[in-house]
Amino acid sequence: MSVYTSPAKVNLSLRVKGKRPDGYHDVDMVMARLDLVDELDFHNSRTTTLICDAPGIPTDEQNLVIKAIIEFEKRYGRKAKQRITLTKRIPQAAGLGGGSSDAATTLLAINELLGTQFAPEELHEMAAAVGSDVPFFLNPVLSRCLGRGELVRPLSAFETWSSPIVLLKPQFGVRTPWAYENCRRKRTVTYDTQTVRGLRLSNDLERPVFDKFPFLACMKMWLLEQPGVQAALMSGSGSCMFALTETHEQANAVAQAAKEQLDATLFTYCGTVNPQ
Ligand code: C5P
Repeated sequence: MSVYTSPAKVNLSLRVKGKRPDGYHDVDMVMARLDLVDELDFHNSRTTTLICDAPGIPTDEQNLVIKAIIEFEKRYGRKAKQRITLTKRIPQAAGLGGGSSDAATTLLAINELLGTQFAPEELHEMAAAVGSDVPFFLNPVLSRCLGRGELVRPLSAFETWSSPIVLLKPQFGVRTPWAYENCRRKRTVTYDTQTVRGLRLSNDLERPVFDKFPFLACMKMWLLEQPGVQAALMSGSGSCMFALTETHEQANAVAQAAKEQLDATLFTYCGTVNPQ
């Protein structure tokens, strides 16, 4: 059995530049990994199967792990024949890149386990074919991601940039009436660029997503009022919100206060963005 970990990411910045002829949008993003990880176990087997006991996770070709296997096999010209057990810790549909990360880890793992020695450029091509965010996870150092997200440029000036972080992810449908009620009473949400030790943070997807889910706008403004919070933003297309704090103790305190004051059913995580 070979065990690999697969990190989550946050978008420290996400700017949408415009729609492309292929239907995607050109973006300019800054992505950083977290110390929140999924786990993938690989076993040689007669056929490829994916086992995952987390509810709502498909184990067929809809799962990016299987898509990664298919892309790998196209180039390999043979079957990869792996039994993969996926332990999910990264919440889904959160903007944390869990599925993309699992796909990148699968490419790296089977390249190693099968001894195929595909070059980084070849792995990059396979990753980009699986999804726009997958290439970042092949080498998840703090990076600027351009094109549709697949053109990854490590930001070497920010290589050691790191921060305590708290993640808050709501389960919609719970406490929503309260959230809407409170949102109406809240002041207007701010979309201004926030700067933390030289890094500029903003997310162009906040406006449309907050229009549909006002509770997220409410969470952003609440986060910005908490002690020690240096910046608060939505990650990717949401629904995970995050705040960067000065200390880990402050991040823990924010998570606890969020459960008490916002919603007891929130998923919370306190850790480090771009851990060294
Ligand atoms: O590349 P990926 O499969 O992750 O993208 C999922 C969907 O998100 C795309 O089909 C597209 O609608 C949208 N997308 C986009 N622009 C990007 C990335 C994704 O419009 N840069």
